[in-house]
Amino acid sequence: MSDIQSKAWTYKTTTGGFVKNLSLTDYPIPDFKQDHVLIEVFNASLNPGDYKIPDLPFGSCSGGNDDDQRNLYVAQIVLSIHRDPKTLGTLKTIMWVHRDSVYPLPENIPTEHGSGFDMGALTAYQAIVSYANSPSGKVLISGGSGGVGAFCIQVAKTLGLYAIATCSEAGPPLCKEHGADVTLDYKSPTLQDDLRKTQVDLVVDDVGYDPQFHRRSEGFLKPERQFVLVAIMDRDWAGIRSMLVSFFVPAWLGGPSRKRKAIFTRSQLGDYAAVAALAREGKLKVVADSVFSFEHMPKAFERLKSGQAKGKIIVDVSTHATKVNTKRS
Ligand SMILES: NC(=O)c1ccc[n+]([C@@H]2O[C@H](COP(=O)([O-])OP(=O)(O)OC[C@H]3O[C@@H](n4cnc5c(N)ncnc54)[C@H](OP(=O)(O)O)[C@@H]3O)[C@@H](O)[C@H]2O)c1
Repeated sequence: MSDIQSKAWTYKTTTGGFVKNLSLTDYPIPDFKQDHVLIEVFNASLNPGDYKIPDLPFGSCSGGNDDDQRNLYVAQIVLSIHRDPKTLGTLKTIMWVHRDSVYPLPENIPTEHGSGFDMGALTAYQAIVSYANSPSGKVLISGGSGGVGAFCIQVAKTLGLYAIATCSEAGPPLCKEHGADVTLDYKSPTLQDDLRKTQVDLVVDDVGYDPQFHRRSEGFLKPERQFVLVAIMDRDWAGIRSMLVSFFVPAWLGGPSRKRKAIFTRSQLGDYAAVAALAREGKLKVVADSVFSFEHMPKAFERLKSGQAKGKIIVDVSTHATKVNTKRS
C-alpha cells in the first residue's frame, strides 16, 4: 500500500470561503477501516452541499493531512456517497468508503457518467418515491434544470406522474428532454396564477431561495399533500425565520397550511439498487453540465457556486489512476 500515491484537495481555514483555501496535497492512505471498502476514484461529481456545509459559520474545518477525514465534503464516486456527514467525505484520489454506501455501477453506464448517479439521483428518488402518494398525480419540481431537478423529472416520469418543472428561459429543452410535461419560467409574473390553475399533488423544492414558497404553495398544492424541501441551506435570516415558522407554527396559529417535509439524503442500499436498476434500463440518465480535471477543482466549485449548472458537474480524476486492473461487476 505504501508505494501507492494518493492526492487530496484540503483546506485549513474557511476564511473568505473554503474554495479559496483549497490546496492540492499528497495524502497518506489511511489504515484499513472495519466494514469499509478502499476505492480509487475515477470520476466524482459535485453537489452544492460540498461547499455549503464547510462554509457554514458552525461548519467543520479540518487540519489538512491529519487523517481525520474532514478535509472536504464530499467526492461522491460512482454509486457511492458518504453515509455519515460528520466524517465529511473528501476529494481524494483514493479513500475508504463504508461498504453500505457502495453499489456496482451498471455495465452500460460509462464510468464518466457513473459519478453523476450519486447524491442527485438518490435525492430525487427519495424525494419523489416516498411522497408521491397519488399514482397519476401532478408534481411540481422547482429547479428542473439543476442536478437534482433533472433526476426528479425522470423519477417522476418512471412513476407515471405528470411533471411540471420550473426553470429559466434556457431550461425548457433540457427539462423536456428528461420528460417534463410542462415547463414554467420561474421569472414569469404569471407563475403563481399559472400554478393556481393547475393544482398539484406534490411539490419538490430543489431551489430553496424563496422563503415564502411554502406559504404560497397553499394556492396550488392540494390540501393534505406534501411540500418536500430538498434545498435546505440557501437561507438568509429571513429565510431561516420563515423556515422555522413553516416547521413549528401550526396552521391554526398562522403557519402555512400545507405539510412540509425537509429531506436529508440517506445512503440506503435498497435505494442505490433502485436507482441503478432505473439507470440500467435507460430510465435515468446523467446530463453533464461540464467536466473539470481534478487539478481544476476550484474552477469546478466556482461553476457549482454560480447556481447555473444545467445538470451535473463532473470531475475527472482518471489521470491519477494507479495501474491496478479494474473490473466491472
Ligand atoms: N436535502 C438534501 O439531502 C440535499 C441533497 C442534494 C442536494 N440538496 C440541495 O438541493 C439543491 C439543488 O441541488 P442541485 O445539485 O440541483 O443544484 P444546482 O445543479 O446547482 O442547481 C442549479 C439550477 O437551479 C436552477 N435555478 C436557480 N434558481 C432557480 C429558481 N428560482 N427556480 C427554478 N430553478 C432555478 C438553475 O437554472 P437557471 O440557470 O436556468 O437559473 C440551475 O439549472 C441545493 O440547494 C442542494 O444543496 C439537498
